Amino acid sequence: MTTVSDSTVREPAALRAAMVSALRDEGAITSEPVAAAFAAVPRHLFAPDAPLELAYDLHRTVPVKKDENGLDISVMSAAHLQAVMLEQAGIAPGMKVLEIGSGGVNAAYLQELVGNEGEVTTVDIDRDIIDRARLCLDDAGYTRVKTVLADGETGVPDGAPYDRIIVTAAAWDIPPSWISGLTGNGRLVVPLTVRGTTRSIAFDRDGEGLVSRSYRLARFVPMQGEGAAEERKVMLREGVALQTDDVRVRLTAEVLNHALDAPRLERWSGAAFDLPDELELYLTFHLSSPARLHAAKDVVESGLVEASALLGVPALVSEDSIAYRTRRENEGIGVGFESGVIAHGPQAEALADEYVNLLRHWAQDHRRRGAATFRYLPGPAPTPLPQDAVLRRHGAVTVVWH
Ligand SMILES: C[S@@+](CC[C@H](N)C(=O)[O-])C[C@H]1O[C@@H](n2cnc3c(N)ncnc32)[C@H](O)[C@@H]1O
Repeated sequence: MTTVSDSTVREPAALRAAMVSALRDEGAITSEPVAAAFAAVPRHLFAPDAPLELAYDLHRTVPVKKDENGLDISVMSAAHLQAVMLEQAGIAPGMKVLEIGSGGVNAAYLQELVGNEGEVTTVDIDRDIIDRARLCLDDAGYTRVKTVLADGETGVPDGAPYDRIIVTAAAWDIPPSWISGLTGNGRLVVPLTVRGTTRSIAFDRDGEGLVSRSYRLARFVPMQGEGAAEERKVMLREGVALQTDDVRVRLTAEVLNHALDAPRLERWSGAAFDLPDELELYLTFHLSSPARLHAAKDVVESGLVEASALLGVPALVSEDSIAYRTRRENEGIGVGFESGVIAHGPQAEALADEYVNLLRHWAQDHRRRGAATFRYLPGPAPTPLPQDAVLRRHGAVTVVWH
């Protein structure tokens, strides 16, 4: 006989099995240890107030805490992203792992992966979150996970060095403690925001610095505390903004806004547009004066700015002009879309030329997934700063293409 309590006991297990199977199908889980960890941890116990379907959803996060403006500052990360990052981390039994940004469930996966011989520490800057994580971990039986209340910027030196450090808030920089806190062949998996886009990057140690092994697009709540992002954002007009993390870029709102009213120049590259995140990475590291253009839906509907700016698009700016990427359907070049450029202002021609050349180069030489390698070089930036280096407080990020 099936009682109500039987069915409530069985339902999470069925949802969990379906989740693991779907994560395998989508390529997020690629190894048996990660599959076993996801099959073992009762994920719903870390989201006790959420509907079961949400707790076991592949792509949706579960809200945990919002700031005074209603923006998420803590969520239970989506299962898909957690699986991808755990695969990137390559965790083995017996390892010592630090998680920066807690919630409980990911720490439980980590404990499953390192086993009884391993150690997991999770640190959060927010007392409510770390207390909640502790309760959930205990409730689910993961009493061995160590919980720490601190700003993850300084790592958790007590337990260092770690074989793996996994960061689960969007980082803007890599503080020295994350590098020195790794063993010689340790790995850091961090959602790093560069030029306005966040990628989960698996970094191995490389001399004093770090070199990437893999990267995947990711979305995370922002890092708080000492490591919070420093970015300039200017509103050109209602619903149109430019943002940059490049100290060399000048953004003069009034003049650039004026440029938008100048007639538009349209240039087409004759090159394929696909793999937008890979193209974007290439563009943002090669444009001589990069920013990110954002436009609201009503501005796009008015025809002033192309739809590519709805989610933010790499822009090339000069003092008085602006150029950004667009696309159009074009079956003649063998793929669905062709990339192009819209430019405004007195230097529209020059900006469009520079931009279109980059679109062509990328399509010709680098149009594939994973063509880039990131490096993080700690310490004072070289002067003059190479064009393709992104400066941070503690070092610089560079990318090479293969
Ligand atoms: C996406 S949530 C973490 C999700 C969690 N790992 C899980 O198991 O689902 C990000 C967390 O990072 C925390 N955080 C933000 N800045 C931090 C910092 N500087 N140090 C430690 N934790 C931080 C937030 O308080 C938030 O709880």
